[in-house]
Amino acid sequence: MKIPIFLTPFLLCLFISLVQAQTPKCDIQDDGSTLKVFHIFSQCSPFKPSKPMSWEESVLNLQAKDQARMQYFSSLVARKSVVPIASARQIIQSPTYIVKAKFGTPPQTLLLALDTSSDAAWIPCSGCVGCSTSKPFAPIKSTSFRNVSCGSPHCKQVPNPTCGGSACAFNFTYGSSSIAASVVQDTLTLAADPIPGYTFGCVNKTTGSSAPQQGLLGLGRGPLSLLSQSQNLYKSTFSYCLPSFKSINFSGSLRLGPVYQPKRIKYTPLLRNPRRSSLYYVNLVAIKVGRKIVDIPPAALAFNPTTGAGTIFDSGTVFTRLAEPVYTAVRNEFRRRVGPKLPVTTLGGFDTCYNVPIVVPTITFLFSGMNVALPPDNIVIHSTAGSTTCLAMAGAPDNVNSVLNVIANMQQQNHRVLFDVPNSRIGIARELCT
Ligand SMILES: *[C@@H]1O[C@H](CO)[C@@H](O)[C@H](O)[C@H]1NC(C)=O
Ligand SMILES: *[C@@H]1O[C@H](CO)[C@@H](O)[C@H](O)[C@H]1NC(C)=O
Ligand SMILES: *[C@@H]1O[C@H](CO)[C@@H](O)[C@H](O)[C@H]1NC(C)=O
Ligand SMILES: *[C@@H]1O[C@H](CO)[C@@H](O)[C@H](O)[C@H]1NC(C)=O
Repeated sequence: MKIPIFLTPFLLCLFISLVQAQTPKCDIQDDGSTLKVFHIFSQCSPFKPSKPMSWEESVLNLQAKDQARMQYFSSLVARKSVVPIASARQIIQSPTYIVKAKFGTPPQTLLLALDTSSDAAWIPCSGCVGCSTSKPFAPIKSTSFRNVSCGSPHCKQVPNPTCGGSACAFNFTYGSSSIAASVVQDTLTLAADPIPGYTFGCVNKTTGSSAPQQGLLGLGRGPLSLLSQSQNLYKSTFSYCLPSFKSINFSGSLRLGPVYQPKRIKYTPLLRNPRRSSLYYVNLVAIKVGRKIVDIPPAALAFNPTTGAGTIFDSGTVFTRLAEPVYTAVRNEFRRRVGPKLPVTTLGGFDTCYNVPIVVPTITFLFSGMNVALPPDNIVIHSTAGSTTCLAMAGAPDNVNSVLNVIANMQQQNHRVLFDVPNSRIGIARELCT
């Protein structure tokens, strides 16, 4: 099997010795409306890397993927155009967490990357030229498969729709990557829930390297999203707990619908950016390092739909990225707390690393109505040998003039994150989902 470059084994290195001692159960069935969530490097993931890289190499690789994602976000939030069915970022991202989804009748299983900042689902279909999976979806084997016609309203929701025969198709380019897909419908089954006539992209052709191998499940809230297409079933409500990179058993959960969501949870209001309706914006008002509220210019945190500025929760970025003045302030206070005299080293985009053991101060995000105090596991990464520790956040990449703060998945691990769209709020509670 071809292993794409985004499958970086850095995280695997962190726990590989532990994993060898205990093999997780990978055949556990999803039930009810709850799906297991696996890290891409999990022992249960077919995408786990076969050949480890050095720790440093891997960190740099992950950061490069995040950087591409940031570049994309930056162009995304600044422009006015409609969110495309398959956005550029879906092509360039490194999928971090995957869930099992079944398409068609009888069901064909695919492992889709979770992405809260994308709307639609798309999967590689048989005959796809350039797709890197050996197990694409085979429409011909499904009795419930339908093409979407050019006249259908669904066809108007994709960018630059074209008519192949009478079927709706579209293509999309980004840098050196492009995909062509047809718009189709089939039954999507998530855990025990069938969603008949689900509209998604059937990928026919890709160029470029890093599209998620078996496709992507968009958990954004735009018109073609899972949320809008399963409104009756899930009421635009879901939560996930992302497993820690270091966990042995290494699975979390994606819980769909309002029924089994936690009752005791802190909430912050969701903000809507009409230009980027799929992104989950929240109001981050301050950041504490230890007990100190860091001095940040208010404009650097303020929500501004016109410029795209503000803070989003994202499941696809690995390390939290803060706008430059925000990051600088947090980093400086972090260094001061750790010990101003300790020598600081760098590793790729991480500028605050130590080669001696440190005491990690708590970092607390203060959102409207909700404080989230992160424990050390959500703040720093340690090298395999334990000799290097880095603050696992960064400022915007040099070439990106980003105004967006992205709360990324490493900072969300081992928390239940509840997206309650009808009540326009996001809830967070600590939960060990190892
Ligand atoms: C869907 O469209 C493709 C290409 O146009 C065609 O080959 C296929 O037979 C169609 N399938 C159905 C079920 O209409
Ligand atoms: C994709 O775009 C290229 C260049 O514009 C065009 O030649 C091609 O026909 C398009 N393919 C589809 C499926 O739209
Ligand atoms: C998909 O691509 C194949 C060739 O690679 C082509 O024959 C087929 O018509 C395409 N289907 C659609 C729906 O674009
Ligand atoms: C792993 O999972 C099993 C049950 O599936 C549990 O008994 C065990 O304690 C777990 N180990 C860790 C370290 O979480």
